[in-house]
Amino acid sequence: MPDEQPQTVGGRAYWRGHLHGAEVIAVLSGIGKVAAATTATALIERFGVQRIVFTGVAGGLAPGVRVGDVVVAHRFLQHDMDASPLFPRHEVPGYARSRFDADVALTAALRQASERVLHALPAQLDEGVRAEFHLQTPRCHQGLLISGDRFVSTTAESDALRKILPDALAVEMEGAAFAQVCHDYGVPLAVVRTISDRADDAAHVDFPRFLREVASRYSAAIVEALLLQR
Ligand code: ADE
Repeated sequence: MPDEQPQTVGGRAYWRGHLHGAEVIAVLSGIGKVAAATTATALIERFGVQRIVFTGVAGGLAPGVRVGDVVVAHRFLQHDMDASPLFPRHEVPGYARSRFDADVALTAALRQASERVLHALPAQLDEGVRAEFHLQTPRCHQGLLISGDRFVSTTAESDALRKILPDALAVEMEGAAFAQVCHDYGVPLAVVRTISDRADDAAHVDFPRFLREVASRYSAAIVEALLLQR
């Protein structure tokens, strides 16, 4: 952002500024549900944000969710939450539910923004990068996003997740934590993730390069489109 100013809270830099006329706080949440929850709480408590848009990467789980596609979450679940036998598996104690919803209007806007820019994105990448990750025209999926404090990098683990949560589209490590905090505070949340891997035995391959060369560009284009369509 041309006018961005950093402010550190809890050891994390929050950048305050303006993007396409919108007042924005930009922050890198850190990896995992605890880092995500403290980031979401600081955004709300310290910066008074009125809505949160989260971008990042995820491992594809459902068939047809390919590397380079994007997933817009309409619901979230913590796949590693298990307080059984006191509560059913995946239920968050005290909430009587395992699934938390994304905000309907903000999510619709995010999906619209994603669909508007996606088809043109691969052509803007280096040809070598496109070939390396076998990127085709990205598809936009919408559905259940699951989160847990594990990078899923074996086919055995992703098979097990598919079996127990057959409607999960993709897995990552923060979305459901943001959803729980946003539910607590009544703050609208929308999440879009670029699929960086298939959460299988090859999931770790060139992960940093994918972040740098592909996902960061997809996220920037989608956020820009979202702000421009307001
Ligand atoms: N984020 C991107 N890929 C992931 C994976 N395979 N597991 C967890 N989080 C991820």
